[in-house]
Amino acid sequence: MKFFIDTANIYEIKEAQNFGILDGVTTNPSLMAKEKIKGEKNIIEHYKKICSVVDGDVSAEVISTDLDGIISEGEKLSQLDQKIVVKVPMIKNGIKAIKHFSSKNIKTNCTLIFSAGQALIAAKAGATYVSPFIGRLDDISTDGLNIISDIRKIFDNYNINTQILAASIRSPLHIISCAKIGSDVITSPLNSILKLFEHPLTDIGLKKFLDDHYSVNKK
Ligand code: G3P
Repeated sequence: MKFFIDTANIYEIKEAQNFGILDGVTTNPSLMAKEKIKGEKNIIEHYKKICSVVDGDVSAEVISTDLDGIISEGEKLSQLDQKIVVKVPMIKNGIKAIKHFSSKNIKTNCTLIFSAGQALIAAKAGATYVSPFIGRLDDISTDGLNIISDIRKIFDNYNINTQILAASIRSPLHIISCAKIGSDVITSPLNSILKLFEHPLTDIGLKKFLDDHYSVNKK
């Protein structure tokens, strides 16, 4: 399973990249706003900076919702770097745009997926990734992981190549559950990824190993 980090924060991206386990980055307009990145020029420069840090795909989301706007914005973004994946919302014009991008070999990530039906439509249009938001489904008392299972089953039934990119991850358990179900990718805040490193028995065990070593060896 690929690990993407869901942030526009360069320091967090560098930290994850330095572990050697990062496969890509996803951003969205809210994450860009959180980093106070504003104005077209700064936004473009920030995407270039992210691409220079990470080895892997970098999702950059369009703001337009009309077809011509999505296409021209997406084409401009895709020309910034080969790593750029054009992130397009799951709306009717978005699906038409994904079909267009797919015919031009431009990678896409269809975002704001909340049902298996939406994922199937995006895949049929040729999306490289579909992003079901599991945390936001959990927030409204709907089991977000069920949608990952449903999409996995449907894509496997028809050998669909579109990758399932589980988004809106809220905990390390979400990541493990997605791996068990067979999600192709998870995108997560750094926090939840770092929690996967931890176990109290690891800390206790390491302390004992070192204490035993130094009890017979000088420091
Ligand atoms: O990038 C899309 C998704 O991961 C957003 O997550 O936490 O805002 O629901 P969240």
